[in-house]
Amino acid sequence: MKIVLVGYMASGKSTVGRLLAQKSGMRFLDLDEYIEGKLEAGITDIFKEKGEVYFRKKEHEFLREVLAENEDLVIATGGGTPCYSGNMHTMLEESGGVFYLKVSIPELVRRLFKEKDQRPLIRHLDDNELPEFIGKHLFERSPFYSMASYSINCDHKEAEGIADEIKALLG
Ligand code: S3P
Repeated sequence: MKIVLVGYMASGKSTVGRLLAQKSGMRFLDLDEYIEGKLEAGITDIFKEKGEVYFRKKEHEFLREVLAENEDLVIATGGGTPCYSGNMHTMLEESGGVFYLKVSIPELVRRLFKEKDQRPLIRHLDDNELPEFIGKHLFERSPFYSMASYSINCDHKEAEGIADEIKALLG
């Protein structure tokens, strides 16, 4: 079985995914790290040198590859993964559950202020442009995230509690 976590940048997909995998005796796989390993380059460099369209193509290809692996996996996707190439439908069809880690705009802004420089989509923005960018971007992406099997409200919760909540939903 595959369990897939989706959500905006800094929503906690990797942290929660690691804990969920531990609690469920499954292996954790971070799609961004998988892509970096396969292409032998960091995400920022891939965006810089090959562009976003190339990244999205590879993201789609490697998503299909990990979903086809013959092993139980908790998969943390990238923030944009559900929004391109029919990926959300693929994940819903090929997994045992897609979980949207829902975080409010103010909380995302708070987290991303600190991490802006490591993220190719927002590193060029001034700090004062960040709230509006995140608000609009999340609005565009919400229809995709909302297709998830379950939406988990993550504000004011520890990663541990979120992982327990997902585990309980899996039964
Ligand atoms: C992206 C999010 C990143 C990474 C890439 C694009 C996005 O993943 O896949 O920089 O489009 O939101 P995280 O959500 O793990 O930061």
